[in-house]
This record gives sequence, C-alpha cells and structure tokens, in this order.
Amino acid sequence: MSENFYQQTTTAPESSFEVSLRPPAFSEFIGQEKVKERLLLMVEAATNRGDVLDHVLLSGPPGLGKTTLANIISKASDSQLHTTSGPQIEKAGDLAGVLTNLQKGDVLFIDEIHRLHPAIEEYLYPAMEDFRLDIIIDSGPSARSIQLNLPRFTLVGATTRSGMLTAPLRSRFGLVNRLDYYTHDELSQIIERSAGLLDIPIEPDGALEIASRSRGTPRVANALLRWVRDYAQVKADGRITGNLADKALAMIDIDDDGLDEMDKRLLEAIIYKFQGGPVGLGSVAVAVGEDASTLEEVHEPFLILQGFLQRTPRGRIALPAAYEKIGAPPPPPGEQPSLL
Ligand SMILES: Nc1ncnc2c1ncn2[C@@H]1O[C@H](COP(=O)(O)OP(=O)(O)OP(=O)(O)O)[C@@H](O)[C@H]1O
Ligand SMILES: [Mg+2]
Repeated sequence: MSENFYQQTTTAPESSFEVSLRPPAFSEFIGQEKVKERLLLMVEAATNRGDVLDHVLLSGPPGLGKTTLANIISKASDSQLHTTSGPQIEKAGDLAGVLTNLQKGDVLFIDEIHRLHPAIEEYLYPAMEDFRLDIIIDSGPSARSIQLNLPRFTLVGATTRSGMLTAPLRSRFGLVNRLDYYTHDELSQIIERSAGLLDIPIEPDGALEIASRSRGTPRVANALLRWVRDYAQVKADGRITGNLADKALAMIDIDDDGLDEMDKRLLEAIIYKFQGGPVGLGSVAVAVGEDASTLEEVHEPFLILQGFLQRTPRGRIALPAAYEKIGAPPPPPGEQPSLL
C-alpha cells in the first residue's frame, strides 16, 4: 500500500473525506501564517476599496493547501469561484470560453498552471493585465484579430513547479506565495481538527505521532489519520493513542520520519547502484521504477528538507543521514561525493 500512497493521495480526485476536512475560512486554516497574513490583508484592502482582488500565485509541493486557499480566497472576497487546470485548457478557444464566462470580481482558479501551453499563455497575458482578449479568427489572408473586453477578475494560479513558470507569466501576478511544509505542531492541530470533524477519539500524543510521520503535509496527515482510525477500530477500542498510532503506521511501512517504501528505495538506489551519486534524476527514476516527475515533485523535496539528499548541478547526492537511514556503511573518507 505505502508504495503508491502519496501518489494516490496527490493525483486522485479529492475524496469526499478530504473535501469535508477542507478548512472553509482563513480562521480555520492552520499554519502558513505569513501567506495567510498577506492574503487577508489583500482581501481586506480590496474589499474596502470596493476593488477586485489582484492576481495571486500559490506554489509548493502537493497537498499543502493550494486548492484550499483558492477556495478560501474566493469565499473571503465574496466572489464566485471558477475552477480549471492547465492541462484542461487545450486550445485558445477553451480559454476564451472560460474567460468570457466570468463576471466582474469572480475568481478564476487555474490549477497546475505551469502546464499551460505556451501559445495559450500568450492569450492570458493581456487578459490578466488589461482584461482584454485578442483572438485571431480565420487564417490566411482573411485572418483578423478581434478584441473582447473582459470583466475585471482575479486569477489564482497554483503550481507544484514554480520553476517551470515562465517569467512573463509569473510577473503578472500581484502576489506570489510559496507554501512551506508544516511543522509537527501545526500538523497535530490539523489532525485534531480533522479527528473532531470525523468524531474520532484521539489523544494529543496520538495526534503528534501521526503528525511527525506525515512528511509536513496536511493531505498525508489526513490520509494517515484515516488509516490509523481503521486500525484502532479493528485492533483496539477505537481510541488513538501514541502507541497505537506507532503500530498502525509501522504496519504500512511508514517509518519514524515519515519515509515510505519509495523514499527508501530512492536512497538505496543512489547509494548502492550509483555509489552515492551524483546521479541524474532520469537514471534514478529507471532504477526505482517510478516516474521522474513524481520523484521530483513528491519524494525529493521532503528528502532534501530532511537532509537525506542534495540536488547539485551534476545530479543527486546521498548525504550521510541517508546512509544511516538505510543502514549502509558510510562512504570512506575522501570518497564522500563532492558537493561542488
Ligand atoms: N492549513 C490547513 N489546515 C487544515 N487542513 C488543511 C490545510 N491545508 C490543507 N489541508 C487539508 O489537506 C488537503 C489537501 O489540501 P489541498 O488540496 O488544498 O492541497 P494542494 O496544495 O492543492 O495539493 P495539490 O498540489 O495536490 O493540488 C485538503 O483537503 C485539506 O483537508
Ligand atoms: Mg490542489
């Protein structure tokens, strides 16, 4: 189960379980204090001026709350939310359809905005900047461009790969926010909130145990909570304690640091098959049998944050903590891969 655990929880459509746990307002959104503060200020200022909110970009690894914040922003500014995603907009006409459907002040949420086709991005620039859409009709000698005026709207873009966003697109957002991984304490609060909503009896040390193994990610925390709830129901009296959470998570191979099978396989491959690196992402992906972009977006950021892995221009390098984690003998001195 654990091998595909994160992939499933990141790419599958949100289950009703998750939807019901989505905080509906800033006041219930735990953590990301800086981002929250900025967004609140923006919403308040725009509301006071009777103005439309500026465009907002939200970036960060999967499951940290980008979609949730887009929902909250639209609710807080009392506007209608329209949702689409980069891959859904295949032709300029698709974008024109979405944009011409907006009313003044509406929020247009474009998920995975880094996957927008470059030709479509070009149409988005004047739409964001001047609320204008230039479309070309016909082709050849009779081709002509017509201009449509759009109502003032707010674009909220979300991306797991802010590095892949083009500079012109990025620069058209008034506010760019990066979401960070959550602390154990914040995740504990999220787990206790979710447990409350789902009527699951949980003790503080139970919440903390799950939190510390949720790789800084609320979506993972909620998924692990669901698993531990099932375990508690079948193996105990339904109450989640620290000890019980530990056993439940060990059963699905989630270790003390929240690393799963794929994380460990990745570290093992770098250490045993590629002598600790540096090694290119493509080679690692083949060695572990996982899609390179999943490794890059889901697994690596957490391993880097935890000090197991380093990305260098020459490739990935396993750090001493990785050798310790998988029980490999540390590399002999002098053979430590150079970090330069
Ligand atoms: N700050 C938070 N407080 C409480 N719950 C949260 C918080 N952030 C996220 N969640 C929970 O985690 C789940 C995942 O969040 P969300 O769908 O917003 O992530 P995302 O960043 O859009 O992920 P993806 O990049 O995969 O689309 C939500 O359904 C919600 O229940
Ligand atoms: Mg999302």
